[in-house]
Amino acid sequence: MTQDELKALVGQAALQYVVPGEIVGVGTGSTVNKFIDALATMKDRLPGAVSSSEASTQRLQALGIRVFDANEVEELSVYIDGADEIDDQGYMVKGGGAALTREKIVAAQSRRFVCIADESKRVPVLGRFPLPVEVIPMAVGRITRQFARMGGTARLRTRDGHPLVTDNGQQILDVIGLQIRDPLGFEGEVSQWPGVVTVGVFAHQKASVCLLGTASGVQTLNW
Ligand code: A5P
Repeated sequence: MTQDELKALVGQAALQYVVPGEIVGVGTGSTVNKFIDALATMKDRLPGAVSSSEASTQRLQALGIRVFDANEVEELSVYIDGADEIDDQGYMVKGGGAALTREKIVAAQSRRFVCIADESKRVPVLGRFPLPVEVIPMAVGRITRQFARMGGTARLRTRDGHPLVTDNGQQILDVIGLQIRDPLGFEGEVSQWPGVVTVGVFAHQKASVCLLGTASGVQTLNW
């Protein structure tokens, strides 16, 4: 199976976690796009979704799924999103699509995080994928130096030769060279650095379920 087919497989499998009659939290990325396409088949049984990015909002609306503002909803029963990395405890690195801040917000207001990923995303230790960190532009230099003291090399993410600007009007640093052996401690520490909006380690908002697309089908991991 191709990676694209594995993504479609887990996107479809995630429908079993969507509760008819309830608003669903929707993440961002190429795997979630497959889920959104599958979700359209049950749109008549759903009030709608809370979305984690402008890109997902556009795709949901184009398929006729209503998008609610996160402030209109107190709690969601389930949030479905992809990951750039997931370890054996359900801790993740996210933000390859630059949507990490809204993803963490929607995940935090959801009782259950269902991660959908192909098996290439599974790692023994977080840190192989460059760690995305959304930052306030005036703090880029200082935060880059702080990561250097930890052994990491931070690069400003660009698009078309200019710094990428997130949905929240901020910038992204991608940090290589880290081995994140204590995801909870790391997330807690980096989140407190002045100028950090969101660090792409999802430890406090870890996955409760992972639907992993493998050559032999969907493997379900529960925590
Ligand atoms: C978006 O900002 C990310 O957190 C995505 O969830 C993550 O990058 C996975 O994306 P793909 O499904 O495209 O690999």
